[in-house]
Amino acid sequence: MDNKEIVVSGIRSTGNLHLGNYFGALRNFVKMQNDYDCRFFIADLHALTTNPDPKELHTSVKSIVTEYLAAGIDPEKATIFVQSDVPEVSELYLLLNMHVGIGELMRTASFKDKARKALGIKADADNDDNIENEIIGADSNKRVNAGLLTYPTLMAVDILIQKAHKVPVGKDQEQHLELTRRFARRFNSFYNTDLFPEPENYNFGKAAVKIPGLDGSGKMGKSEGNCLYLIDEDKVLRKKVMRAVTDEGPKEPNSPVSQPVQNLFSLMELTSAPETVQQFKDAYSDCSIRYGDLKKQLAEDILNITRPIRERIMELRDNDEYIGKVLRQGAERARYYASQTLKEAREVMGIRKFY
Ligand code: TYM
Repeated sequence: MDNKEIVVSGIRSTGNLHLGNYFGALRNFVKMQNDYDCRFFIADLHALTTNPDPKELHTSVKSIVTEYLAAGIDPEKATIFVQSDVPEVSELYLLLNMHVGIGELMRTASFKDKARKALGIKADADNDDNIENEIIGADSNKRVNAGLLTYPTLMAVDILIQKAHKVPVGKDQEQHLELTRRFARRFNSFYNTDLFPEPENYNFGKAAVKIPGLDGSGKMGKSEGNCLYLIDEDKVLRKKVMRAVTDEGPKEPNSPVSQPVQNLFSLMELTSAPETVQQFKDAYSDCSIRYGDLKKQLAEDILNITRPIRERIMELRDNDEYIGKVLRQGAERARYYASQTLKEAREVMGIRKFY
């Protein structure tokens, strides 16, 4: 693996993987493993920021490793590990936090979003500026935990401790990556070192993607309750796609496309053959489109991608011995690199023994 650029990415263990995770991250993991020194992990410490049920957290770690393997990540090519198996991450997280501002963390979009959820406040422009006051004023039952605030530090450490150059993530993680670069620069300049490279997002020369939900709103996400899962059975997936929100249909040629319909086209562009997409776009332009046909086609094309993955998940999921071996080997490799970086970081910060 020497001399190859280092790639790091992770997915939180909060349930099963959906098409947003697949097209935003996992598909790139699989493609990158041949050309890069890849280290992919299950972010169980990040999952703790939303206080999951311990049993569910535990189950989800196992299902995500299984999904990684089923999607085609090869443990002989890439390192696969569980974040909490690398305790060096937690120590560097403490050290790096000494150079991170509370203000910059509070301004992060994902923090504001999660803080609002914890406090039960609706998102709108009017309360955006007040969120800080709400957080400080919240009683202990509705607290916004400190782990949520320092989430970006932990993510930066995942990346920096492996000295990663490239980080394949979806669009929603771009702000976190920007912070990672900023923290790396700040640390390097404060200690006059070049310890941390500045990582960049990577999506095969294209911009990062945002996979929409099919409920007409924003992105596909677990908390939005609008996910198409890799493990969805054919029947379940078809039903979800057939229920996708559309509109009344174009009334005149070349009408603008509404957001919900655009969402269907966006998914189709990722899953269907270019001729098929064109055929439906032409049908939209000349008003002959039937959304039912579009959805049927889309469901089948999604299933062509997810079905083989689901089948491999079924084969692998009870093979605890194999999965255990993969994770032990992965943890060992990840710790090897992480402990070197941690040692260097302690050294430059002045934590050295003279006794
Ligand atoms: P998480 O678990 O929310 O999502 C995992 C990956 O899936 C991508 N993703 C999407 N991409 C496009 N469209 C969507 N609708 C969509 N939903 C999810 C995310 O962009 C992400 O790439 N903070 C990270 C986990 C993490 C991490 C890291 C990632 C922790 N440490 C270090 C990279 C490097 C997260 O919450 O991902």
